[in-house]
Amino acid sequence: ESISRRMTVFGTGYLGATHAACMAELGHEVLGVDVDPSKLAMLEAGEVPFYEPGLEEVLRRNIAAGRLRFTSSYEEAAEFADIHFLGVGTPQKKGEFAADMRFVDSVVDSLAPLLTRPAVIFGKSTVPVGTAERLGVRARELSPAGQDVEVAWNPEFLREGFAVKDTLHPDRLVLGVDRNRPGRAESVAREVYGKILDEGTPFVVTDLATSELVKASANAFLATKISFINAISEVCEASGADVTVLADAIGHDERIGRKFLNAGIGFGGGCLPKDIRAFMARAGELGADQALTFLREVDNINMRRRTRMVELAREACGSLLGARVAVLGAAFKPDSDDVRDSPALNVAGQIQLQGAAVSVYDPKAMGNSRSLFPTLTYSANTEEACAGADVVLILTEWAEFRKLLPSDLDDIVRKKVVIDGRNCLEPAIWRDAGWTYRGLGRP
Ligand code: UDX
Repeated sequence: ESISRRMTVFGTGYLGATHAACMAELGHEVLGVDVDPSKLAMLEAGEVPFYEPGLEEVLRRNIAAGRLRFTSSYEEAAEFADIHFLGVGTPQKKGEFAADMRFVDSVVDSLAPLLTRPAVIFGKSTVPVGTAERLGVRARELSPAGQDVEVAWNPEFLREGFAVKDTLHPDRLVLGVDRNRPGRAESVAREVYGKILDEGTPFVVTDLATSELVKASANAFLATKISFINAISEVCEASGADVTVLADAIGHDERIGRKFLNAGIGFGGGCLPKDIRAFMARAGELGADQALTFLREVDNINMRRRTRMVELAREACGSLLGARVAVLGAAFKPDSDDVRDSPALNVAGQIQLQGAAVSVYDPKAMGNSRSLFPTLTYSANTEEACAGADVVLILTEWAEFRKLLPSDLDDIVRKKVVIDGRNCLEPAIWRDAGWTYRGLGRP
């Protein structure tokens, strides 16, 4: 049975905007809150400020149905609902591994004094273990409702590119509640997520610290899995083996599984890199740093793949000084316009620093790339990027690059060399057409 509730969502970035729209899609009355007027204006007009397949439809449908609105007013938010989701960012601090908690803290500091009725705050952001407990104490101190304010943690596991599906049909829901203060958080969550739970979605209810660590360790595991296969790909390169065949073969073992075993230029984005660093920093603060020293190696392996890609490009051109390098892909992964910590742009930037003329094309991430790396040259399409190229680099495995055929580029490039940073092309097709094909971890 579905119950419609009123709720707010603080933060309208990737996580918050998706959560707000999807909660409205479940039938709830939702108010999205942000301090950035430009984001609010876009969302109110039914426009998603980033590229996420399917999200705009959900947003528009629910605005039209009157279930979804946006505001910058905390007063309005506190008045509107007694269920508050917190989905603001926890970026990496400048020059440190630790997470910057200023956005999370500021929401609680501004909202709590306005809470005059009993309320539940569900944190969704990825935070250092211990944060939820700390925020609970703080919120109760600041709020006129005092002891009737509860903080629970409800980590989010959505992937960019699948944000709507991952939110409405998650693999599992996790809820951390304060075991020392029995409250309403679990029953409220069961109402809010009723439709999802009715589908048989596993629901793990635990203490606050465990829920925070679930998220940190899930991301650490995924990052480790990618770096594992990338480490093996280094050995493959040294021995003439093929990491893609190897990944298929070990992936058949159900205990291992084939997913997240794609070797290439490694992981990037707004989550995995900063989350493993924040996790190490937090373990250090807790005196458990030894437990996570392996994550430093995970990070190192990941960064080494980028350097290797640059090396391969240099080998292909003889010297990068004066070479023309075509870069296909800028987003940190396909079906996203996100370039935060993108391996593709990092490689493009390093190659340019070594004196090459780099032209970049990405189907969706051109605007964001230009703001982050204004000095690279950007092309309108694949053909323009590859014109006169000494080497073509595939750095994000967009479908349109996977589908490329040698005949699409034969007459455009100067030298028929392709380096496949995502192992997404069929080597035989390119070699048979007279191209030099190099993959990462492939002979
Ligand atoms: C990730 C987690 O998957 C998600 O659960 C969490 O909530 C946020 O972080 P996301 O950042 O959207 O999601 O991207 P994901 O699909 O996990 O990919 C992360 C990076 O790993 C990308 O740069 C991708 O190219 C890379 N990757 C992924 C590989 O290099 N090899 C793989 O086999 C898989």
